[in-house]
Amino acid sequence: MLKEHRTNVLLHGDPQGAEPLRKAIAAYLNLERGAKVYPEQILVLSSTRQSLFLCAQLLVDAGKPILLENPGYFGARKAFESAEARIVPIDVDEQGIRMALLRADRSGANCLYVTPSHQYPTGATLPLERRLELINWAAENGKWIIEDDYDSEFHYEGLPTACVQGLDKYQRTLYLGTFSKTLYPGLRIGYMALPHELVKAFTYARSIMDGHTPQILQLTLARFMEDGHYNSHVRAMRKLYAGRRAVLLRALGQHLGDVVTALRPEGGLQIPCLLAEGWSEEKTIRQAEAAGVQLAGLSRLYAGEQKRAGWILGYASLTDYEIETAVQRLASVLKR
Ligand SMILES: Cc1ncc(COP(=O)(O)O)c(C=O)c1O
Repeated sequence: MLKEHRTNVLLHGDPQGAEPLRKAIAAYLNLERGAKVYPEQILVLSSTRQSLFLCAQLLVDAGKPILLENPGYFGARKAFESAEARIVPIDVDEQGIRMALLRADRSGANCLYVTPSHQYPTGATLPLERRLELINWAAENGKWIIEDDYDSEFHYEGLPTACVQGLDKYQRTLYLGTFSKTLYPGLRIGYMALPHELVKAFTYARSIMDGHTPQILQLTLARFMEDGHYNSHVRAMRKLYAGRRAVLLRALGQHLGDVVTALRPEGGLQIPCLLAEGWSEEKTIRQAEAAGVQLAGLSRLYAGEQKRAGWILGYASLTDYEIETAVQRLASVLKR
């Protein structure tokens, strides 16, 4: 890459992102995610976190409301809280965001954050009818939809659904993607696919914030995608993670079936589990930690009083053996 581009890659780059990478991302989204996007709508950033921060700064004024899924991603909540937005939670059910609640919302919010592919943390996949209803709601009421498609590459059961952006003929959707899950989080490359009318403002804000993403990283990633390595890598990882997911589900059923009910998301890299009556989330997490098993609690992701106790179990970075032994260790410490 250095030989080809010489010292150019050491200079400042385009704040919107290197053209080859924007082209590669647009082609990927159109082909693999059913998006309808041109390279000039892509803004290359460091992460979904940065995308959310920009959304919070540009779309919501201090003191004004923002609609967030409940339960939902704490990263989104933090980004909007940092812009002093007022969080308005909208409950989800086993199919994702509840459209009746959204239609009934009178907060005056102009923007909604959603995770339609795999709702975070429940794992629900928003069905096509709700996606279309969501788009109509946004178009009729002049709202923005922030679609966080953070791990849609990993879909194991049923058919993957087209992203909301691709279905939205009204240009009301801001699509957020990241390479944190498919490659590695330390890479720090994410992106947005923006409605045409927002590209200029977001690019300008980004140029003030941190200029651009390092060119050498962008150009290397673009080449990796153009040559087909990215798609092969994702396919290989999908197979690997499907296997790990099966191991975790089986181990949970075998060793902890009376303690938790594992929800079965169609995809993603985590399994949300609901604790049975009589088991405390706080206590089980403490006991697990003492036995060297890190558990993330479910209840902290709920707004308001109605919370469900449980855990979110990530399995992507563990081998089959590590998953099996961790679950066994957990079962023995909890049932002691
Ligand atoms: C819902 C959700 N969105 C996005 C991300 C990825 O964020 P980033 O690109 O900032 O690493 C995560 C990571 O945990 C996530 O859980």
